[in-house]
Amino acid sequence: MKYVIGVDLGTSAVKILLVNQNGAVCQEVSKSYPLIIEKSGYSEQNPEEWVEKTIAGLAELIQQFDGDVNDIEGISFSGQMHGLVLLDDNNQVLRNAILWNDTRTTKQCQEIYDVVGRNRLLDVTKNPALEGFTLPKILWVKENEPLIFEKASVFLLPKDYLRYRLTGNIHMEYSDAAGTLLLNVAKREWSPEVLEAFDLSTEFCPPLVESHAFVGTLSAELAQATGLSEAIKVFAGGADNACGAIGSGILSEGKTLASIGTSGVVLAYEQRNDLDFEGKVHYFNHSEENAYYTMGVTLAAGYSLSWFKDTFAKEEAFELFLEGVDEIHAGSNGLLFTPYIVGERTPHADSTIRGSFIGVDAAHERKHFARAVLEGITFSLNESIEIFRSSGKTIDSIISIGGGAKNETWLQMQADIFDAKIEKLTSEQGPGMGAAMLAAYGCGWYPSLKECAQTFIQTAKTYYPIPENVEAYKKLFTIYQQVYTQTKDLNEQLREFRK
Ligand code: XUL
Repeated sequence: MKYVIGVDLGTSAVKILLVNQNGAVCQEVSKSYPLIIEKSGYSEQNPEEWVEKTIAGLAELIQQFDGDVNDIEGISFSGQMHGLVLLDDNNQVLRNAILWNDTRTTKQCQEIYDVVGRNRLLDVTKNPALEGFTLPKILWVKENEPLIFEKASVFLLPKDYLRYRLTGNIHMEYSDAAGTLLLNVAKREWSPEVLEAFDLSTEFCPPLVESHAFVGTLSAELAQATGLSEAIKVFAGGADNACGAIGSGILSEGKTLASIGTSGVVLAYEQRNDLDFEGKVHYFNHSEENAYYTMGVTLAAGYSLSWFKDTFAKEEAFELFLEGVDEIHAGSNGLLFTPYIVGERTPHADSTIRGSFIGVDAAHERKHFARAVLEGITFSLNESIEIFRSSGKTIDSIISIGGGAKNETWLQMQADIFDAKIEKLTSEQGPGMGAAMLAAYGCGWYPSLKECAQTFIQTAKTYYPIPENVEAYKKLFTIYQQVYTQTKDLNEQLREFRK
């Protein structure tokens, strides 16, 4: 039996999957690392930590593997998007990575609009200037840490840095490059216009490759440290959302994904690169060649739940923490939560907004708060679904992956709030599975990713909307949608008190 490895370099942990030729996950290892939150709005990680945890995870996986390591033919990567890693002339990391959920760059986003113009930026990059994207982070370092920036010779995204450390080769692939605001998304090339506008050289951007491109083998040192064969083929990989889409079979028009990880996304496959969503949703290159996807992003989806649990019940297991939420009716007895704990992207690109619990009552217990958090995250994703529906897309069936697909109550809640059939797959590990599929395709196991998906991806269970809940959630959603406007000004006033 042959195998491939999918490495998902996430925000809270690196998750590594060993997948066989039938698409079965034979082993998995996860190693977590912290966020460095120096102050409100900041979010960083030390790239060395990604490398150390990945090596440790791969070594653990190989130790437990009782087959022949030479049968592990390929490895590929899925990565948290947009994070800025700056390297000097010797490819040494110059500062901590500034992550996708760091929102310190509102001023730089405005500068991008002032210099390039909003419409022109949308024409070239297909996306608006959002705090989380990479170019605003580059400009922030340039302005605030000029001595560091002077030394920067190339920038990378998180999984590209990890792959560089494993192979010694520097590349970036289209699906992640799309989230930098430096790529001409339709032409699939670094935009000379945007680079020039900010006095950045083409050499500052790594060479671009396809997601399934073969980009090297493991260095002898890394093969030794992990126990993998030096001959294992390394393939470029993709942005976590593109990989999540591949790992869920979102490989043709009409397919929709709801993925709840640290962030939450609703994503739709697009064959075309010339549609106009006016920047309301993100529009990126897929990890399948010449394909695209659109998506809405909730910045703190799973993160809202883990924040809530870590703050109020750190030691408790998740299953215990969520006990009883299934006994509560839609609407958590009148308690509503908005998941804006680090600001928001879709539909409100707003780095100042913060979350709320509305309607706290003396009768509420902790389980009502827990359910309200689940509902609030799902309402937020429903705002993206509304954008897609109002653009003319039919969304009556959605594949759910990530943390949101691990819990029966949450899956049913998604069916009821989205008013659509929800499919849970046999593996909810979308991004890691997508990375493994890129390796399988790269190794030549299948003539296309679609054919790989036919073997690798199966539906385990389907959840149907319950009409009575759908009605209740429709009413609650209209109340939820008002919370943003009603709390916007209050949060702007509170801003000066945030440290
Ligand atoms: C997408 C985004 C997040 C990260 C999470 O634009 O910022 O979904 O990719 O890792």
